[in-house]
Amino acid sequence: MPNTFYVTTPIYYVNDVPHIGHAYTTIAADVLARFNRLTGREVFFLTGLDEHGQKVQQAAVKAGIDPQTHCDRLMPKFKDLWSQLHISYNGFIRTTDSQHQAVVQRYLQALYDKGLIYQAEYTGWYCTFDERFWTEKDVEKGLCPDCRRPVERVSERNYFFRMSRFQDRLKEHIQTNPAFIQPESRRNEVVGFLQKPLEDLSISRPKSRLSWGVELPFDRDCVAYVWFDALINYLSALEYLAPTPNASKFWPASIHLVGKDILTTHAIYWSTMLMGLELPLPQSIFAHGWWTVDGEKMSKSRGNVVDPYAMVEQFGADAFRYFLLREVPFGQDGDFSLTAFGSRYNAELANDLGNLLSRTLTMLANFSNNTIPQPDSQHETDQDCQLQHAASALFPSIDTHLRHLEFHRALETICGLVQSANQYIDKTAPWMLAKDPGNTPRLHTVLFHLTEALRFLTCAVYPFMPQTAETMKTRLGLSDNFSTPVLREFPRWGDYSYSGQTSKGPSLFPRKDSLPSDSHKSPKEPATIHPSTRNMEPSHTPEAKPAANQPVTSEVPHIGIEDFQKVQLKVAKILAAERVPKSKKLLKLQVNVGTELRQIVAGIGKKYVPEELVGRTIVVVANLKPAKLMGIESQGMVLAAGDKEVLELLTMPDEIPAGTKVK
Ligand code: MSP
Repeated sequence: MPNTFYVTTPIYYVNDVPHIGHAYTTIAADVLARFNRLTGREVFFLTGLDEHGQKVQQAAVKAGIDPQTHCDRLMPKFKDLWSQLHISYNGFIRTTDSQHQAVVQRYLQALYDKGLIYQAEYTGWYCTFDERFWTEKDVEKGLCPDCRRPVERVSERNYFFRMSRFQDRLKEHIQTNPAFIQPESRRNEVVGFLQKPLEDLSISRPKSRLSWGVELPFDRDCVAYVWFDALINYLSALEYLAPTPNASKFWPASIHLVGKDILTTHAIYWSTMLMGLELPLPQSIFAHGWWTVDGEKMSKSRGNVVDPYAMVEQFGADAFRYFLLREVPFGQDGDFSLTAFGSRYNAELANDLGNLLSRTLTMLANFSNNTIPQPDSQHETDQDCQLQHAASALFPSIDTHLRHLEFHRALETICGLVQSANQYIDKTAPWMLAKDPGNTPRLHTVLFHLTEALRFLTCAVYPFMPQTAETMKTRLGLSDNFSTPVLREFPRWGDYSYSGQTSKGPSLFPRKDSLPSDSHKSPKEPATIHPSTRNMEPSHTPEAKPAANQPVTSEVPHIGIEDFQKVQLKVAKILAAERVPKSKKLLKLQVNVGTELRQIVAGIGKKYVPEELVGRTIVVVANLKPAKLMGIESQGMVLAAGDKEVLELLTMPDEIPAGTKVK
């Protein structure tokens, strides 16, 4: 296997600010780049901007500035978003770079000299939006078959690339290289397209109609067709943006990631251009699906464009990266909604991964003084072996899935291990072991295995959620350096190196109970995020004023409904728990009651240890008059069963959002 990996995104038109579609491909490319770097391959990850052509020229005219100024103004928006999303590109190309333009001219001249470019009169139906001609049979009712906008009859002398010459070779290449176009359904579309005779490709535009482009070296009155210029970026970048010497080792590209709408230009135009230039074709072109928003096509006029900046601002880059790749198989279309986002965020990131880390760190703090204890082989059980077994399968599985661009499957595998580790905690109940010093060897063995699972997970989540991985690494005191090929060999259980103490910290993914969830969404509820609705917090219903000082007492045999209604019971989530010093019974809890955070002192400390409470969904009396218990203010009361002793805390399913009334 070659030890280089060259991944590209499309170069984006600078006619507007970046949106979710741009972010999607770039995040996917970033995951591949990061994973391949970890496995020791030399990676070149290219992204950039398509700055020529009619769309950009029109946008500049609309803005009342010249096209170059327009491009210079928009370019930082893309770079800034990539930095916010932690995109680790190696090269950022702009098609207005002089070096790129020189390469385009060189290739044009080479094809012209070979007789593969000729001049001819052409009359056809032109779609300004798609910047392409259509033939008579393509056009129906004067509309572009692609974008359904009106087309115009245009007649002009143009230069043509003899694309038709390469039709048979291309068909054969696709047939003999099944991985060349992916996924399979898209390959079939291209094969279908190639059943019809392939026409030659018009590759020039007269300057009189469009001047914003690369001038043809053999005709100063024309500029190159924007796609001819743009596709060459994949090669020109290697000449001035890739690490030298020997940047050519990156060609052919390992993978071009593109959206389904630009597969034809890549699979057919680009492939035949390369054939004309006698250069190898890329190893594969993968066409991903499109995002709709709440079931509708995303468009500026509908006002439903998902703004990646707003997502990052509110939920963090990693959660957004995670959702896009977890929710939908990469080749398929998908629907974006805050409901879907909220469900995944709360269930998989906050409850599962975030909680796993926080439970583990709390136990390491309480039971092993913030250090990773040594295991004792005499005290190992099947439970440990099962966890180890699940973890050992993690990297081979991620590797396989990423080779097939099954990001969602790779993440599913990660989620599986997170769940296994949480179950391992539940089953081994370290807090019970901690009650008896005789169990210390077993307790330490459990904590060791648990931390090993987290060490594997830290590395596995790195390509997807790089910041999260860095935080996990620091909190666990791991010495892994993700800028080095730590996955050259997959990690081995027990083969760790911890450089420091573990440390607790704020939640990795604080629960977002204000997000709509599947079971609580009304059909009309807007669940999109775009610039105009940046503030997503639901309007706060004013908290009912605490009822007058009227204790609820069991000595009263009957109460009327009006009395009961004075008691405000609410679902709450325990965010943190700790013992009240010098008290066996009292625990100090920080709980989220939906609209605010409360501190509640609860007499449940004989039944529960603090770390097993974090993340639980409970019921509290929300309007109890604040009181002080052992000098600590308690702003409410938890509900639990038990006559004298607490037997069980009243809990609710995790899907019920904090703040929900209990009646
Ligand atoms: N400039 C060309 C690409 C030239 S590559 C040599 C171009 N640019 S674009 O800015 O219009 O589109 C870039 C990418 O965004 C395409 O891959 C397209 O599929 C993707 N998307 C645009 N809207 C999208 C969604 N709603 N969902 C997912 N991706 C989408 O085309």
